[in-house]
Amino acid sequence: MNQEKRALLAELAQGERVLYRSLHPSSESLVTSSQNLLASVPMTWMSKWPGGFPLGFTRAKGSHVVDLDGHELVDFALGDTGAMAGHSPPALARALAARLDEPGGVTTMLTHADAQWVGEELARRFGLEKWSFTLSATDANRWMLRLARLVTRRDKVLVFSYSYHGTVDETFVVLDESGRARSRPGNVAPAVDPTTTTRVVEFNDLNALRDALAHGDVAAVLTEPALTNVGIVLPEEGFLEAVRELCDETGTLLILDETHTFSAGPGGATRRFSLRPDAITIGKSLGGGVPCGAFGLSEALAARVLARGAEVDLADVGGVGGTLAGNALSLTAMRAVLSEVLTEDAFGQMERRCTELRVGVERAIAEFQLNWSVTQLGARCEYRFTSPAPKSGTASQRASDPLLEEYLHLFLLNRGVILTPFHNMVLMSPDTSSADVALHDVVFREALENWRGRV
Ligand SMILES: Cc1ncc(COP(=O)(O)O)c(C=O)c1O
Repeated sequence: MNQEKRALLAELAQGERVLYRSLHPSSESLVTSSQNLLASVPMTWMSKWPGGFPLGFTRAKGSHVVDLDGHELVDFALGDTGAMAGHSPPALARALAARLDEPGGVTTMLTHADAQWVGEELARRFGLEKWSFTLSATDANRWMLRLARLVTRRDKVLVFSYSYHGTVDETFVVLDESGRARSRPGNVAPAVDPTTTTRVVEFNDLNALRDALAHGDVAAVLTEPALTNVGIVLPEEGFLEAVRELCDETGTLLILDETHTFSAGPGGATRRFSLRPDAITIGKSLGGGVPCGAFGLSEALAARVLARGAEVDLADVGGVGGTLAGNALSLTAMRAVLSEVLTEDAFGQMERRCTELRVGVERAIAEFQLNWSVTQLGARCEYRFTSPAPKSGTASQRASDPLLEEYLHLFLLNRGVILTPFHNMVLMSPDTSSADVALHDVVFREALENWRGRV
């Protein structure tokens, strides 16, 4: 981008910041008066929204949110995937109300028939036989990594550079400019240097993966089937199959994190791409945003875990499990979402909506002659400020442009469209309509026209 365009961008972003403030006095005042909250927000990530403060909301239904100042917005962030089922779908609301009222029982540490139903449904969708529940995708990853180390008797894990799997200590490792492993910039006071627990290579780099696994000390490769937290980085043809083979050759387990790639279809990317993981982790949208997560194991892996059960404490304070994990409310939520909301039909519709949006973005990119790319994975797509679409996490990370991102996000937010604050992700829910997509199309073009049309 030449200097003139960057200077104009800075000026436009400043104009959008001023407009954002003037449109949202009640949201600003909620945040400035929340001095009792750390960083004035319920959770520190919420300070990441563009414009200096996040919106407060009063209503969230389907694909729309109403903010504290009364603006109705189309929500393509959907709680960064937690609300992929749409905000408060009626089937979920009904099921939760029934669970809370009659017959009652939010959490009992007793088993419930809903668990069996959800386990069976997850097995049907993802192809793994044994399931266990957590309260978040982070916990699913954490506990699965422990079980992987337990059965393989190996101490390391392998992740791809700039992947994200929740706040899991072992995963905060990236490759630096000279290809060396280092703690991810910004990693908050890690207990141990994560380069001692983790091997890291680039996504789509089979040679590097082969070399890393050859050490014979990696318990598991933990990866998303496509990286989704640094733009979307799709696997190249045959990459995931080759990862499976390398894992088999070296006695390494393969854990697929489907938390975001669930957007690829009813059985996630695992079913869509016919993948054969040893384990799957998932969370977020599974319970329509009610805290929950799950990990699934193949029959063979489950048998290996249980065979080691006498040596470690799987039934109490051994480091796997939690008091509220598998609670009845989460299970009710998962059952309602899987049976009535995120159904096969719903995924078909979500993907069609997403294709409409992607085609609109592609047209605009071509029209304004931008060197950008847009990548779709089922109901989810991302635009990235580089073309062709990056093949590794590091390449994708290098294509980020915070000023451009801020301008686009604020321009859209000021005109009724919410993008996820962490990147340029747009996600469809079963309620997302063609009219919602059309609004994105119009406002996205306006944002480009405003910037590129004037240079
Ligand atoms: C792929 C992936 N796995 C796991 C997580 C962790 O989810 P949670 O923060 O809900 O535990 C995330 C969160 O963004 C994610 O993107």
